[in-house]
Amino acid sequence: MSRASDAPVGVFDSGVGGLSVLGEIRSLLPNESLLYVADCGHIPYGEKTPEFIRQRCLIIADFFHQQRAKALVLACNTATAAAAAQLRERYPDWPIVGMEPAVKPAAAATRSGVVGVLATTGTLQSAKFAALLDRFAGDVRVVTQPCPGLVELIETGDLFSPTIRALLQSYVDPLLAEGCDTIILGCTHYPFLKPLLREMIPESISLIDTGSAVARQLQRLLTQSDLLANIPARETLFWTSANPNKFRNILPVLWKKSDSVRSFDL
Ligand code: DGL
Repeated sequence: MSRASDAPVGVFDSGVGGLSVLGEIRSLLPNESLLYVADCGHIPYGEKTPEFIRQRCLIIADFFHQQRAKALVLACNTATAAAAAQLRERYPDWPIVGMEPAVKPAAAATRSGVVGVLATTGTLQSAKFAALLDRFAGDVRVVTQPCPGLVELIETGDLFSPTIRALLQSYVDPLLAEGCDTIILGCTHYPFLKPLLREMIPESISLIDTGSAVARQLQRLLTQSDLLANIPARETLFWTSANPNKFRNILPVLWKKSDSVRSFDL
């Protein structure tokens, strides 16, 4: 099916985390119409089986395809690890952008030779992550830290409470003890915790995430296929598989403005 440059781009995550990526896409590509599905009814992906995540990803990708989206962005490291290969197989002609923890740039940036990764259990246990380490870690020691519970708190809009502070501290302390000077935020929910993280770690430690790289990759793929929008659209539509009111309430916190939110019942 041929797709038009004025068609929207479909972006999804298990919840609000992908909004950190959506923000980067919106800044880099202000003309694009964006559709966003937050699969909040099935959060957290990071603690689900790869089979379950793949099934959810196929349902959401089919939905965007039916909406005639010209490209798909998996704004979720866990979903990419579980399902990117199957989605590309199912839709070989559709530009699909996935994301993975920034091991390559972190390995290039570290001076201590020790890099930390905060990510979901699912991402860290995936074959894709193991392959990423084999390919890019080289001599750098990579210390991984799964972070169960963080995503659920961020989903409630909690970015600063004593509860999330204590949980995050318990995940960051082992990385600091190992001498990491670079910490990869390997889950799209975690960039929303940057201000809190900055209070916990020395200024000399770098935080790396891949939201802006994903936006640039999308720009590259759309340019290659001659699909970049040239008329300002700026429309952003949201769907959520949980209560739309909950999502409406959190949008002004994480997305700054209120846009239309519909129910995603699939
Ligand atoms: N935001 C997702 C990621 O980047 C995962 C969140 C979840 O566990 O649902 O991995």
